[in-house]
Amino acid sequence: MRIALNSSEPAPIESLRDIYTFVGGMPAFERIVDAFYRRVEADVLLRPMYPSDLVEARRHLALFLAQYFGGPEEYSAERGHPRLRLRHQPFKIGLAERNAWLANMLAALDEAEVHPAAKALMTAYFEDTSLFLMNSEENK
Ligand code: HEM
Repeated sequence: MRIALNSSEPAPIESLRDIYTFVGGMPAFERIVDAFYRRVEADVLLRPMYPSDLVEARRHLALFLAQYFGGPEEYSAERGHPRLRLRHQPFKIGLAERNAWLANMLAALDEAEVHPAAKALMTAYFEDTSLFLMNSEENK
């Protein structure tokens, strides 16, 4: 049971930008992204799309998500404007790839023990953005 007025309780989430602080800052995003890429490594559909060395991919996604959810703007300082659709253009993303990516990310949120209030908002964002990034109607 959660106790009202507990001083360890984070301030409520009023916008997506509050999530970074709410979940505990960068260490939480590192946990999420580590859990996500561990799943990608074992995913027969997604693994071949990524480079053999996942170190940079992991770093870029962690910096991007931390920035998007209200953390420091390190992703843009390093990579420029996110332009996610353009950056995903080289990969064929149909419904199967989208669903696999989303399932891995939602499982990663659980593994990283993201608070349910933050998880609900992050889930909605990942559902929408992964649909938006689809660039193929092929559905095999
Ligand atoms: C829909 C299914 C998706 C697939 C199959 C996919 C796949 C990929 C692949 C293969 C890369 C390249 C990794 C590399 O070469 O290092 C990548 C990069 C990236 N993806 Fe996705 N992705 C998907 C959805 C998303 C979503 C929903 C987001 C954000 C919410 C996202 C954020 C990123 C970011 C930030 C990068 C790094 C961009 C950069 O700075 O180079 N992706 N993705």
